[in-house]
Amino acid sequence: MRPQRIQIVEVGPRDGLQNEPLSTLSDRITLVNALAGTGLSHIEAASFVSPKWVPKMADADKLFASIDRQAGVIYSALTPNIKGFEAALAAGVDQVAVFASASESFSQKNINCSIIESIERFEPVLAAARQHNIRVRGYVSCTLGCPYEGAIAPARVAEVAQVLFEAGCYEVSLGDTIGTGTPDQAAAMVEAVAAQVPISALALHFHDTYGQALANVAACLELGVSTIDSSVAGLGGCPYATGASGNLATEDLVYMLNGLGLSHGVDLTKLVAVGNDISQRLGRKNGSKVGQALRKK
Ligand code: HMG
Ligand code: MG
Repeated sequence: MRPQRIQIVEVGPRDGLQNEPLSTLSDRITLVNALAGTGLSHIEAASFVSPKWVPKMADADKLFASIDRQAGVIYSALTPNIKGFEAALAAGVDQVAVFASASESFSQKNINCSIIESIERFEPVLAAARQHNIRVRGYVSCTLGCPYEGAIAPARVAEVAQVLFEAGCYEVSLGDTIGTGTPDQAAAMVEAVAAQVPISALALHFHDTYGQALANVAACLELGVSTIDSSVAGLGGCPYATGASGNLATEDLVYMLNGLGLSHGVDLTKLVAVGNDISQRLGRKNGSKVGQALRKK
């Protein structure tokens, strides 16, 4: 059944800017602060990963030291291992995320280890997070296809999601990393996962490479998913998934939710201004159709 209230997780400063060649630390800080003024209540702000692997996410500690924290907003970050978690803790993050893959090849390319090894690396992160009362989100990548292996079985996605949930992740976000999925396929994948993990603990994280992300979200809303990840102006991609474009644009998501009469707490006008500003700063076309349509002349 379609939920009435949707939690949006804004991933633009992380998933978006990790792959924008022209983004600077100052752009990242400006973007996080501007997004917090739109009513968004969860912003994935940075990654505590190796700067050799993802140079654009360097200086996450400086970012956290510089942003103006708004009450009621969760500022989270990716932490692939205990080193990342300790740095995130010292920087004062509210929440962290670990990321596994449903594809063995993608796991190797993205985090340089097997799926099983990645989960072993998360165990100390989950234990330390528990000790510090920090909630941990889990991602599963390649849920609707892998850039190296092609099709991925829904049962495989469900298996990895269940492991993350049972290990202590409060929520599991299902990534269509390369954006190849279509609505029936997305719904079948979510149904398979929901047989193992409560639907209230699932989130959708769809990239829009093939223009299917909004349709896929609409299909999965009917199953009761109530948390959606999106990226302002459709920023970004993934450094280990060649050709992957940005996430579903937050403006497009908010416009659709408004049309469906579902509440989410975000001011579309303010959000559109933020999306146009960051697109202009980066010298790129705004990846949100709604952002383009509502741009002030
Ligand atoms: P590794 O090379 O296997 O790790 O990388 P290592 O333990 O051998 O360490 C190598 C070097 O990295 C060492 O430094 C460590 O200190 C350093 P050196 O001695 O060479 O100077 N290091 C770190 N530095 C900073 N922060 C850390 C950290 N850990 C080690 N946390 C590692 C393993 C996981 C670190 C590496 O592969 C990595 O950082 N990968 C980044 C992956 C990434 O951020 N990918 C993009 C995000 S995932 C994504 O976009 C998908 C998602 O959006 C969902 C979807 O769309 O489906 C989430
Ligand atoms: Mg992603």
